[in-house]
Amino acid sequence: MSSLRKTILTVVLLALAVLPLAGCGDTNSQSTFDANSGAHPADWLPLGHTVAAEDHLETCTECHGGDLAGGISKVPCAQCHLGNNEAVHPLQWGSYAYALHANYVKLNGTASCAEAACHGTALEGVPGSGPSCTACHLGGPTSKHPQLWDTNITLHMGYVAQNGTAACQNALCHGAALQGVFLSGPSCNACHQF
Ligand code: HEC
Ligand code: HEC
Ligand code: HEC
Ligand code: HEC
Repeated sequence: MSSLRKTILTVVLLALAVLPLAGCGDTNSQSTFDANSGAHPADWLPLGHTVAAEDHLETCTECHGGDLAGGISKVPCAQCHLGNNEAVHPLQWGSYAYALHANYVKLNGTASCAEAACHGTALEGVPGSGPSCTACHLGGPTSKHPQLWDTNITLHMGYVAQNGTAACQNALCHGAALQGVFLSGPSCNACHQF
């Protein structure tokens, strides 16, 4: 056999060997779940499963159940998702998560946010997933302002003197130009003449 023929034969044989394994490509559950290890790939949370579910939600039902309530995997999507099987936050939050999460946390506590895949077990945040609560909060996970302000709001004087207004100038807090934010912090000019 000429070496060119050998090469062609090898390529054909390789293709035949690989094709049946690959099946229908991305939609094949083999590519998202390894039966030998009994687990999803290492990068499954949060990004891997998000992309897979957005592209091929139908492939999840085989193991997570037709209603995605667990099935033979015994892992319901709602174990982590608060809205429905696909939405991580309650549906009512819509695009006002920054404002409406406060009441949710007051009613339910932080337990449902403190998930290893969501905001971290100590609410420290998770790369590629939910931010740390203190990325926005100044007084710990459940207090937007330093806690002492709860009893004496005029303490913001000293804080602003020390940190400047930059620390209040945030699109979700008092607005990028301190003009206030719908359902969140008031404009500073509600009380001041800056
Ligand atoms: C062949 C069966 C099978 C298929 C198909 C499958 N899963 Fe799973 N899944 C499991 C099993 C079993 C577990 C529990 C073991 C584990 O965590 O890997 C699990 C766990 C998970 C977890 C939790 C992982 C963790 O580390 O806590 C997520 C998220 C998940 N699956 C999402 C999905 C999504 C989204 C799809 C569809 C794109 C899907 N799965 C398809 C069997 C499957
Ligand atoms: C172990 C916790 C966990 C489980 C179980 C889980 N998810 Fe997720 N899922 C997350 C997290 C965390 C995010 C947000 C990632 C981010 O911020 O980009 C997410 C995001 C998503 C998104 C993107 C939409 C959104 O609101 O961000 C889809 C779609 C999704 N998951 C589908 C599923 C499906 C379908 C299942 C069940 C088969 C499932 N997930 C099970 C943790 C989980
Ligand atoms: C992206 C910024 C941001 C992140 C991240 C964030 N919050 Fe908030 N949070 C806010 C804003 C803005 C308010 C004020 C909304 C209002 O005025 O009702 C707030 C208010 C609150 C309140 C009401 C208490 C108070 O001082 O008014 C609680 C409780 C709360 N958040 C809990 C949490 C928890 C728990 C986390 C983390 C899982 C978190 N927040 C992450 C922006 C954020
Ligand atoms: C609900 C009313 C109210 C809002 C809204 C408010 N403040 Fe104040 N602020 C006060 C009061 C009351 C004082 C104390 C005045 C005094 O004791 O002299 C004060 C004092 C100050 C002082 C020191 C005195 C001065 O006028 O220079 C600064 C600086 C300040 N606030 C900054 C801000 C900034 C920045 C914002 C917006 C992020 C803001 N405040 C929003 C009520 C408010």
